[in-house]
Amino acid sequence: MTTLSIIKADTGGFVGHSAVHPDMLATAQDWLRTAIGDRLLLDGKVASCGDDISLIMIHEHGPDSENIHEFAWNTFRATTQVAKRLGLYGAGQDLLSDAFSGNLRGLGPGYAELEFTERPSEPVICFLADKTEPGAWNLPLYKMFADPFNTPGLVIDEKMHAGFCFEVYDLYEEKRINFDCPAELYDLLMFIGAPARYVVHAVESKTLSEQGAATSTQRLSLIAGKYVGKDDPVLIVRCQSGLPAVGEVLEPFSFAYTVAGAMRGSHHAPFMPVSVEHAHPSRFDGPPRVVALGFQVHDGTLLGPRDLFADPAFDRARDQANTAMDYLRRHGPFEPHRLPLEDLEYTTMRALEKRIAERWQPMADAAAVSLATEPTSATTV
Ligand code: F6R
Ligand code: MG
Ligand code: MG
Repeated sequence: MTTLSIIKADTGGFVGHSAVHPDMLATAQDWLRTAIGDRLLLDGKVASCGDDISLIMIHEHGPDSENIHEFAWNTFRATTQVAKRLGLYGAGQDLLSDAFSGNLRGLGPGYAELEFTERPSEPVICFLADKTEPGAWNLPLYKMFADPFNTPGLVIDEKMHAGFCFEVYDLYEEKRINFDCPAELYDLLMFIGAPARYVVHAVESKTLSEQGAATSTQRLSLIAGKYVGKDDPVLIVRCQSGLPAVGEVLEPFSFAYTVAGAMRGSHHAPFMPVSVEHAHPSRFDGPPRVVALGFQVHDGTLLGPRDLFADPAFDRARDQANTAMDYLRRHGPFEPHRLPLEDLEYTTMRALEKRIAERWQPMADAAAVSLATEPTSATTV
């Protein structure tokens, strides 16, 4: 069996939170080269989106492997050292612990891992995002694997017609559930329409019993108990031959739907599909970006990437994202641009509540309060 792992972390930004410094990418590249030479990995690529580095790795150790996770952890420690040396912003931001123990769960870096037996031809797409959260993949995954208006294969391909099974995580209660679609489509949507809490973790074909998609589901603020940076998720989708075609997998991103992210991780903003060259959010620390790297996996090697959103067919989505960004920005500090109070990554509310606690009066006494403050001079003039 082959495993495709994307392990990612923000270990420092250049400039601010907008991009990764080339020296950090070069360091990660050196570490990958060594790991391939040592035969820990069959193959690997370094990629980035915004201020996050992704290690895209092919190996035979399975998901949650201590060796692979420890290798990624050590690589990110090395890129952190580079960030510290250059005085880059937020050096080591996503490394929440001083030491590695067993696997990366709860330590900060995000990871999506998918184990499969390589098909004669194995097209995969690795999506990397910046300035958003894991639930950002809910809408496109629903469209790819459950919406016949997006994916005609669900209607006209014998190998897809029976549908797909969605595994959903409840990130607050730390539990998971499977929804059998299309039979349970409406149940699924009730949950994944609330992406801050319910996140699609995996999707499996009912006909082929093949896993088609895997996401990273870690939420840094839930791990650390306080804001430590956005989660900036990654997604792996296998394509074709009974799984959605490459075009069906990319099509949901032709609509610049809004996601939680952008400035201070506390605003809704449109999700902009971009080429690798344009994956550096700088307007209002956004708009949130997504890149799509296409690979053919062959004999354990990664042929690619093809920069799939470089296609001008996504220009309209980018225009739409800019229009939606203008529209949302005009709301300033008001919802729905600003996130609901409970989802803010930064807040002054707790301190504010304490400071003005005594000034709140029951509404029933409102008339009395305003009468008491009425100027008395009016009656005497
Ligand atoms: C980071 C992010 C940014 C920062 C913002 C303030 O992923 O979303 O919008 O939250 O630039 O950063 P600090 O508090 O580090 O000055
Ligand atoms: Mg950052
Ligand atoms: Mg980031």
